[in-house]
Amino acid sequence: MPTSPTRDRILILDYGSQYTQLIARRVREERVYCEIHPPTVTLDWIRDWEPKGIVLSGGPASVYEAGVPTVEAGLLDLGVPVLGICYGMQLVAQLEGGEVVHGRREYGRAEMTIEEPDDLFGGFEGSEHTNVWMSHGDHVNEPPPGYRTLASTESLPVAAFRSERRAIYGVQFHPEVAHTPRGDEILSNFLFRVCHCEPTWTAGSFIEDAITRIREKVGDEQVICGLSGGVDSSVAAALVHRAIGDQLVCIFVDTGLLRKGEREGVERTFRRHLGIRLEVVDAAAKFLDRLKDVVDPEEKRRRIGAQFIRVFEQAAKDVGQDARFLVQGTLYPDVIESTSVRGPSATIKTHHNVGGLPEDMSFELVEPLRELFKDEVRQAGRELGLPEELVGRHPFPGPGLAVRVLGGVSEERLAVLREADAIYLEEIRAADLYDDIWQAFAVLLPVRSVGVMGDSRTYENVVALRAVTSRDGMTADWFPFPHDVLARISSRLINEVAGVNRVCYDISSKPPSTIEWE
Ligand code: XMP
Repeated sequence: MPTSPTRDRILILDYGSQYTQLIARRVREERVYCEIHPPTVTLDWIRDWEPKGIVLSGGPASVYEAGVPTVEAGLLDLGVPVLGICYGMQLVAQLEGGEVVHGRREYGRAEMTIEEPDDLFGGFEGSEHTNVWMSHGDHVNEPPPGYRTLASTESLPVAAFRSERRAIYGVQFHPEVAHTPRGDEILSNFLFRVCHCEPTWTAGSFIEDAITRIREKVGDEQVICGLSGGVDSSVAAALVHRAIGDQLVCIFVDTGLLRKGEREGVERTFRRHLGIRLEVVDAAAKFLDRLKDVVDPEEKRRRIGAQFIRVFEQAAKDVGQDARFLVQGTLYPDVIESTSVRGPSATIKTHHNVGGLPEDMSFELVEPLRELFKDEVRQAGRELGLPEELVGRHPFPGPGLAVRVLGGVSEERLAVLREADAIYLEEIRAADLYDDIWQAFAVLLPVRSVGVMGDSRTYENVVALRAVTSRDGMTADWFPFPHDVLARISSRLINEVAGVNRVCYDISSKPPSTIEWE
């Protein structure tokens, strides 16, 4: 049963478009709370949820196919404004007795003419032209009975329509993507002019709500939290600590696969700066032992994941005998993925997270970030007083440096990589490029190369440097470093890191490469 809202919120029904998450992000950027749900939710559920407006997303299906996701007819009579985007518009047209024309795909930019600004195009002039992004197979040629056309393009007589009687709108283009330059304005018009939402969703208001909910949930029980040193678990821990203070104990496992200074940084921030009870478990020897002679990347991940669970379970027994709850830094994209109408995608890599603990651990979960996107988590972290260097941090994979020391992992090879990685990041920060990059790290290759130092031949390690830009880690481009920065990094690495005599820069995008090398 949904909870009653404390503030205005928008319901997004997900018909499977790759852009559905973007709609949610745009709405949140306007400071209106929203959630994505599958189209199978019932009208009763929607009534109880009390949305101020409903967005029907796009989707890959055609309304004419059998068994495609649809919508209950009563949705349009709830008295709640509706915006159908692409497939969502076609559903509205079909429900209202209009005709959807099958076939004739259109993909890319189109010039749209506003025929009637109405509220949806408030701020546009009548007959103004604006660029929009199209990606559809089917389309609507005539507004359904009781609807009128608000905009058209050269090839589409109805690029947007509205009901004469009710605040029901449809747009054939995608206002949520950056290729529709004034798409933000159109979505904002829907939120504020059509739905009359109040823009009250902020990190600060989220924190207040979350604190109340955490207190209600855990009462005076003990809670434990696995800290990874990354943004998500750190913000989750700081938030739970703000709510329940010393009822929280954090556990940080030093796997021996961490970057230089990482363990000390976590101790400094959490124990000293935030005054959080922190237990550090030194398990480096165990992890290294489990990784001995393992070169296969998936086998490395499996062993690290299994070892992590073992160490964490023991630590939880030691420090949290009385704990009933476990904090996890699950984010909204993970929640959406697990409930999406798009089926599960193929496993490229077995991801191991601190969150990846077995279900039979006898804890109830506290997941205070379940509703947030990454940028919102960062914002909440700042509000909670976490240092910028932690909040703005590049992602770091659960298996740590083990997937960056290619081939066999040993203490010596980890030490070489740790040193190289630290210098690389130091130079990126010095060049003021850290925040322009999604993720940067060094990789130690499993080959040796010949070099010359002084008058002698060397036969030593090769370090590859990776730096990518990305929005979400799903796709990525290599970062175009200025050559002088690359030159400085290379010269420092070869001069200062014993055992390295060659440096390469990785210029592959994802896809077809991945961000990590293993
Ligand atoms: P790939 O290498 O798949 O990485 O392009 C995409 C993003 O995910 C991170 N990554 C991981 N994160 N556990 C994690 O928590 C993992 O096992 C893992 N493997 C990759 C990677 O660093 C990048 O940000």
